[in-house]
Amino acid sequence: MVKVLFVCLGNICRSPMAEAVFHKMVFEAGLSEHITVDSAGTGTWHMGETAHQRTLAVLQKHGIAHNGRSRQITAYDMKDPNTYIIVMDQSNRVTVEQRHGTHPRLSRLLEFASNTHEENVPDPYYANNFDYVYELVLEACQGLLAHIRQQEGL
Ligand code: 4NP
Repeated sequence: MVKVLFVCLGNICRSPMAEAVFHKMVFEAGLSEHITVDSAGTGTWHMGETAHQRTLAVLQKHGIAHNGRSRQITAYDMKDPNTYIIVMDQSNRVTVEQRHGTHPRLSRLLEFASNTHEENVPDPYYANNFDYVYELVLEACQGLLAHIRQQEGL
């Protein structure tokens, strides 16, 4: 079983969106027994809260369910070198590495997107561009799944 952990700042907008999109993709590929999906934030402001209303609305529009609660990333999340730690932006990467050290499978989500010039998933909490973020997440999650299938022989 390989684990994928999506990480953003608040764990209420981008990483829960990626978690829900990727979870559905994994299920539809028949890989739920091989890949588990989770998300966490680097910050603590929203711990215990559901995802942002606009995140849930965008997911619902695309027929995707999500019922997770915000939590902070821990040292335990980073312990397994086989876990894919997928951050949304460079700032998330710096925070995670400063706090928990480097990790062999720490990547930015958009490294797996071929159709965008963006390197970081913009934060919709401030920019309010939830539909654009969904498109970026969708494209990158397709690339990420292909990458993991190749890496893991799935
Ligand atoms: P996220 O968005 O990192 O995509 O979940 C944010 C949510 C909340 C805050 C910042 C970003 N905040 O500062 O409360």
